Amino acid sequence: MNRVVASAPGKVILFGEHAVVYGEPAIAAAIRRRVYVSVEEIATDRIEIESRNLKIRESMRLEKCTRGELEGVSAELKPLWHLCHKMLELHGHPLKHGLRVEIRSEIPESAGLGSSAALATALALALKEIFSVDMSPNDIWNIAFESEKIVHGRPSGIDNTLSLHGGVILYRKGSMKRIRLGQTIPLVVGDTGVSRSTGKMVARVRMLREKYPDVIEEVIRAIGRLSLLSVQALVDGDLEKLGDLMNINQGLLEALGVSSPEISMLVNAARKAGALGAKLTGAGGGGCIIALPAKNAINNVVESIKRVGRDAFLAEIEFEGARIESGGAHG
Ligand code: MEV
Repeated sequence: MNRVVASAPGKVILFGEHAVVYGEPAIAAAIRRRVYVSVEEIATDRIEIESRNLKIRESMRLEKCTRGELEGVSAELKPLWHLCHKMLELHGHPLKHGLRVEIRSEIPESAGLGSSAALATALALALKEIFSVDMSPNDIWNIAFESEKIVHGRPSGIDNTLSLHGGVILYRKGSMKRIRLGQTIPLVVGDTGVSRSTGKMVARVRMLREKYPDVIEEVIRAIGRLSLLSVQALVDGDLEKLGDLMNINQGLLEALGVSSPEISMLVNAARKAGALGAKLTGAGGGGCIIALPAKNAINNVVESIKRVGRDAFLAEIEFEGARIESGGAHG
C-alpha cells in the first residue's frame, strides 16, 4: 500500500506582522525547519492522525470525516480533520483503504514560526499525492488557508504562502513577489518560551484599532512603509539599514500592544551583544524574536540570548517550499 511523506518549512516575518492583516505589505522568509507529514494507506475504513510532538492520536471512520462530522475531535487536531474532510469532499474517496497520518515537526508550536501553516500545507500536499488528484499550487494554498482560519480566525495568508513557496517574499493580501537577496542575511531566532495564540493577538490589535482608529491606522500604515523601504535594503544587502528598520518596526509593534516583557528582554540582550536590529516575529505576546547580528557578532548574539535563559539558533533561509520527500508519483 502507498505511503507518501511531504514537508513544508516554517517562516519568520522580517517586517509587517499585524499590519499585513489590514492589507499592508509584509516581508517574510521561510526557514530551514520543517514539518514532515507521512500519509499511509491502511487496511481499515478509518483515518488515524497522530502528532508525535503533541503526543495526540485520534481516529475516525472515513465516512464520518467525508460528511464533516467532526464533533469530539481535539482543538489541536481539528484543523487537520477539517482539511481531510475538505479533500474528501472535493475529490470523493479515491482510495479503497483508510489512512494513517503521522506528523513530526522541527518547528516549535505557538511560537510565531508558522508551524500550523507548514503542517496544513504539508498535509494538503501529501493527500493530493496519495489521492493522485490534480491540484494547482493555488488549490493547495486555498485548502491550507481554510485550515489556518480554524487555527487563527482571520489570518492574512502570509504563513501558508511562505510554507508553500519558500524563499523571501513581499506579501500583500492576495499577492506575492519574490525578493532576491543581495547577500545572505544572518538571522538569529530567540524563543521566549511563552506560547500564545495568534488569533488572540490579532483580536487585541483589532480592538485597539476600533478604540483609537486615527492613531492605530497611522501606526499600521507606518509599518507597511517599513516593509516597502526594506525591499531595497534586502536587494542591496544593506544590513545596517535593515537593522534600523527592524528596530523601528519593534517600536511600532510595542505601540500596537503586542510586545511583552520577555520579548523586550530578548530584544535588549540581542542588541547589547551586537545585533544591528531586533524585533518580535509573528503575532507577539510571547513566541520568538529575530535579531540581525553584525557580521562578527552572530555567536555573541546567540550566547547573549542563551545567557538570559532562552533558546536561540541561527535560522538559515530555506529557498524551497513544500515538497514531496518520498513516495507518490515523484518517487
Ligand atoms: C502571524 O504569523 C502574522 C500576523 O500578521 C497574523 C497574520 O498575518 O495572519 C500576526
